[in-house]
Amino acid sequence: MSPDAVRLVEVGPRDGLQNEARVVPWPARVALIDALSQAGLPVIEAGAFVAPRWVPQMADSAAVLAAIHRRAGVRYPVLVPNLKGLKAATSGGVDDIAVFAAASETFSKKNINCSIAESLERLAEVAARAKDRGIAVRGYVSCVLGCPYEGAVAIDRVVEVAAALAAMGCHEISLGDTIGVGTPRRAREMVQAVAGAVPVQRLAAHFHDTYGQALANILAVLEIGVTTFDCSVAGLGGCPYAPGASGNVATEDVVYMLDGMGIASGVDLEKLRLAGLALCQTLGRPPASRAARALAAR
Ligand code: HMG
Ligand code: MG
Repeated sequence: MSPDAVRLVEVGPRDGLQNEARVVPWPARVALIDALSQAGLPVIEAGAFVAPRWVPQMADSAAVLAAIHRRAGVRYPVLVPNLKGLKAATSGGVDDIAVFAAASETFSKKNINCSIAESLERLAEVAARAKDRGIAVRGYVSCVLGCPYEGAVAIDRVVEVAAALAAMGCHEISLGDTIGVGTPRRAREMVQAVAGAVPVQRLAAHFHDTYGQALANILAVLEIGVTTFDCSVAGLGGCPYAPGASGNVATEDVVYMLDGMGIASGVDLEKLRLAGLALCQTLGRPPASRAARALAAR
């Protein structure tokens, strides 16, 4: 059974641009975010307050946050890995953050330089301080369907990390197939297992499209009650600490599918396509979105 409406979380300006070889000038990030809000995206991940030595592409996130035109009703979360990041985010007037952990020890070490247990301890403090200030906290679990270093990841591990993030007060848990290796049956099994610990209404699905499985995976978990999906305009992105990972599922492809199924997302596909196209012109390459390419050729 499919829902009447879903909520899309646009992660291109963060998950997408963090993986670009060259740093995209921050005014282009501002223009992208504003074009995405004009297209009707209700949540736009606008940057990351992480160590610039680790992810130089996100270094100007404070400038981006200060320059965007905040559209009423739109949320602009930023990624925060520790208290230092929280302090920088709050100085910039952020009212939504996302913390991130992994279901794979090696990925955790490579991505944030600590074990899963250490990260959860650190993030619990971040979440508690954020909540004291009235800041909403989203939680990510990476490597839910596979790890670039360890291969298969146990579903029990995903459940444990998701439950820990929910227990520390994350209002939503995004389940990340960081390297896009998942297929629909496994994706559904994983979500069903996590939904035993965290209500499915609080889960989001975050599929990268490395093996072309993302739309199929979305459909598989949509049918078991997930109604929040992360996606990236023009299929931008990957993760700098996940070798070989390609971008998230393209927002245009998701909106095209939802429109065709009569499921409302509130997003205007043509405005979205143009937002992606403008950024791709800056990058000097065509959008990875199949729908965007097909629509441009019409
Ligand atoms: P560390 O080296 O262990 O940290 O990194 P440290 O505390 O020893 O600090 C090292 C330096 O970084 C110091 O500077 C700190 O001040 C600075 P120095 O004294 O050497 O000049 N520093 C910071 N600067 C700015 N903002 C901060 C901050 N923290 C420390 N918040 C750390 C640990 C977590 C900081 C680092 O590993 C890091 O920033 N990692 C982030 C990596 C990242 O952003 N990865 C991509 C996002 S995750 C993802 O894409 C997956 C997702 O999309 C879901 C999915 O697909 O699965 C979410
Ligand atoms: Mg990601």
